[in-house]
Amino acid sequence: MEEINTNGTEIEQDNYHKGYYRIEPCKWHNSPPLVNALKSIAEENVATFGFPGHNRGQAAPFPLVELIGETTYRHDILEVDNLSTPQGPILEAQKQAAQVFGASKTWFLVGGTTCGIHAAIMGVCNPGDTLILPRNCHKSAISAMVLSGVIPKYIFPDYDFHWDIPTVVSPSQVQKAIKELQYQGLKPGAVFITSPTYQGLCSNIKEISALCHLHNIPLIVDEAHGAHFGFHPSLPLSALQQGADVVAQSTHKVLFSLAQSSMLHVSPNNIADKDKINRCLQTLQTTSPSSLLLASLDAVTATLKNNPSSFFDNAINLAVEAKNKIEQIPGITVFDFPSAHDPLRLTVGVYDLGLSGYEADDFLFNDQKVISELPGSRSITLSFPPRTCKEHVDRLILGFNNLSSSFIHHQKNKEINHVGFRFSFEPWNDINMKLSPREAFFAKKKQVDIKDAIGKICGELICPYPPGIPITNPGEVISEIIIEILLKFKADGAKVIGASDPLLSSMLICDV
Ligand SMILES: Cc1ncc(COP(=O)(O)O)c(C=O)c1O
Repeated sequence: MEEINTNGTEIEQDNYHKGYYRIEPCKWHNSPPLVNALKSIAEENVATFGFPGHNRGQAAPFPLVELIGETTYRHDILEVDNLSTPQGPILEAQKQAAQVFGASKTWFLVGGTTCGIHAAIMGVCNPGDTLILPRNCHKSAISAMVLSGVIPKYIFPDYDFHWDIPTVVSPSQVQKAIKELQYQGLKPGAVFITSPTYQGLCSNIKEISALCHLHNIPLIVDEAHGAHFGFHPSLPLSALQQGADVVAQSTHKVLFSLAQSSMLHVSPNNIADKDKINRCLQTLQTTSPSSLLLASLDAVTATLKNNPSSFFDNAINLAVEAKNKIEQIPGITVFDFPSAHDPLRLTVGVYDLGLSGYEADDFLFNDQKVISELPGSRSITLSFPPRTCKEHVDRLILGFNNLSSSFIHHQKNKEINHVGFRFSFEPWNDINMKLSPREAFFAKKKQVDIKDAIGKICGELICPYPPGIPITNPGEVISEIIIEILLKFKADGAKVIGASDPLLSSMLICDV
């Protein structure tokens, strides 16, 4: 029997688990291989003189043991296989994941989708290449350009001013970007699309991938929020099913692996260079990956292997029920997107109550201990995970009912009501890039008063998190509008990250 190794070439199965990890293949080879391997290794009566120093839980520090027990530590074992050059249970688990997710090759990631995006962009593009990508990409795409020396050619996705959210990238926007580069005698190294967005809105990946392939350009998709796509008839098709070449997914978001664990997939199209992506991952990932994180990815694969759609039935039904009930509540509006979107995401507008999403988020937490996924200026976005519980949905609906009755007659901030109150322009409509992300990242920096930063080249990436979409990027000229947006986010109560001065009274600029 033959297997695919990390370089995508075939190797003999006999070479691949010759007892290298001292555990008989028969003990782990069945699904889920990594979970089985951890179980077998943990059960052995061994005398350990290695790492981790908690000594399979013997020396686990009490405060955490008291909280989570010793079992977790007992299975925190490093010698199960090698993530960088897997030959045993990790290789087998990745192979099974590739089958389940429809990839020709899958890598397990312990640095989140952030690491997958870094490896995808570094692995597909070369330094100096141009990358077509939406300006509302996650910050990891910007840091990938710092690492790789790739130059952005931004697409500005359609902006919904009423809801104050960016929406999707259209095939014609991609076409236009490719053409504009062609006029300059350039061919992009890749096209990069974020789909779905944080609000669950999907770009037409099928058409975009056909367009990219017509021009022989690889398509990378940030599918951080769509790892569950394709596993239920009511869910959109996955990016791989629609022809994307390299896809990074946060398995730990809607799916159910441990936080920080993600997957990077390559399609059977064979446009992307698997060996190069593999070398990038060997450069980017730790040499001591947590076997618990990896096993949690393996457990997801095993769960999705059998009758996956039944796993999502109740969450989809409850999300529909919640939508129908919440949209009846006075002063509350539910976002309806006309094209493909995730039925497990619900974006609820509270602007008619004169509230911001941040204020509504605080209210729901204080009133019903409801935790939303993404508060925004005019709405909150909720994610319905598999096995969503009816009692929680009832609390959510009750919370919105209470919110409505508390504010419908005495709106707090009347001006939030006005369409376009927040911005009457797209937040990024005047981007002016003077230095590439990499040049700006390594340029000499200077801290200046925020008012003096206007007109200067930005030296830092600042964004509200979530969603992690940069407001300022290193290398872009800081405009008055950008400062206004940043300060507004802060005043609204958004968690703003990345700023050298968290108070935003000063900013880092490039001293060039
Ligand atoms: C669109 C998008 N891409 C990528 C990421 C990064 O994913 P991770 O947190 O798994 O590194 C996120 C995280 O929120 C995201 O929202």
